[in-house]
Amino acid sequence: MYKLLIKPLLFQFDPEAVHHFVFRFLKISCKIPGVKTLLSAIYSTKNPQLQVNTLGLSFPNPVGLAAGFDKNAELIDELACLGFGFIEIGTVTPLAQAGNDKPRLFRLPADAALINRMGFNNAGVDAVVQNLKKRKSGIIIGGNIGKNKLTPNHLAVNDYLICFEKLFDYVDYFVVNVSSPNTPGLRELQEKGPLLEILNSLQAVNLAKTKPKPILLKIAPDLNTEQLADIVSIVADSKIAGIIATNTTIDRSNLATASATLTAIGAGGLSGKPLAAKSTEVLSYLYKNSPKNTNLIAVGGIDSGSSAHDKLAAGAQLVQVYTGFIYQGAGIVKRICKGL
Ligand SMILES: Cc1cc2nc3c(=O)[nH]c(=O)nc-3n(C[C@H](O)[C@H](O)[C@H](O)COP(=O)(O)O)c2cc1C
Repeated sequence: MYKLLIKPLLFQFDPEAVHHFVFRFLKISCKIPGVKTLLSAIYSTKNPQLQVNTLGLSFPNPVGLAAGFDKNAELIDELACLGFGFIEIGTVTPLAQAGNDKPRLFRLPADAALINRMGFNNAGVDAVVQNLKKRKSGIIIGGNIGKNKLTPNHLAVNDYLICFEKLFDYVDYFVVNVSSPNTPGLRELQEKGPLLEILNSLQAVNLAKTKPKPILLKIAPDLNTEQLADIVSIVADSKIAGIIATNTTIDRSNLATASATLTAIGAGGLSGKPLAAKSTEVLSYLYKNSPKNTNLIAVGGIDSGSSAHDKLAAGAQLVQVYTGFIYQGAGIVKRICKGL
């Protein structure tokens, strides 16, 4: 029904307006008694064989919602009814920020892809903590953290530390995002010096806690082999739990969408089907070259059981979806679980 009726209708409107509409619709309809139970009955999968024990956590299934969809943790209880094994909130920054000017989210239907240059629009860590305090669902939550646009890179570590401390009691694992193409200079933090400083500082604070939490690093798919080798050694040196591969790409090659359309859209990160092979390549490299205790979460172009299986076969323990969720609707999680 989603692909035949709902998607053609929703795709008539501006993508970001649709995002907010769907958000409000889910929020309001889930207030009606019985709706959440009904959604869970339709979309959830209860199969003990799909359970994954990793990062010291027990995931009911390996399919999570990727960062960027529920940046402010406003819809946890509602999204939890759609069958996800876990939800990653954020990217959260210390202070609220509006993000880039609109329009900043574009569909590429011919490629089953999106281009976005949102720019970490979010309500700021204090508001996100308030939202997390209200949630009732016990679903596993990842806290994806970043820096404010106005924070210079040499002070970025403070932004990550602020978000880490404030979110610590409310999330189950952390993700250090240094890979969004939409915050100027952010990806320079993937270089050895700044990255080691950020990860070592976070891990020092983390290990001083009574119960430390897993920290993962989310990387771009556009790193070359030398840079990936650096990432592997930095992750091993800082002894964080693992890596999320990958964020969106700035590469625009091999797309079916007309180049004039791409030029008109302009800068941003590409997600969805065209990203799948590239991000799996990065994942495979990480799996082959990392110490065996490195946890890997795969994200990038997953839209079916077989594309999720490709990622698990390449070494991931868990997968996440974003663009596939937009193109396929809520049934995607159950379909992937069934395929697995
Ligand atoms: C509109 C949009 C916003 C996103 N925002 C974030 C974000 O705030 N933080 C982040 O780490 N990744 C963000 N992402 C990247 C996704 O989490 C994911 O890594 C990427 O889209 C690849 O997965 P996909 O092909 O399934 O979409 C965003 C993606 C999209 C499409």
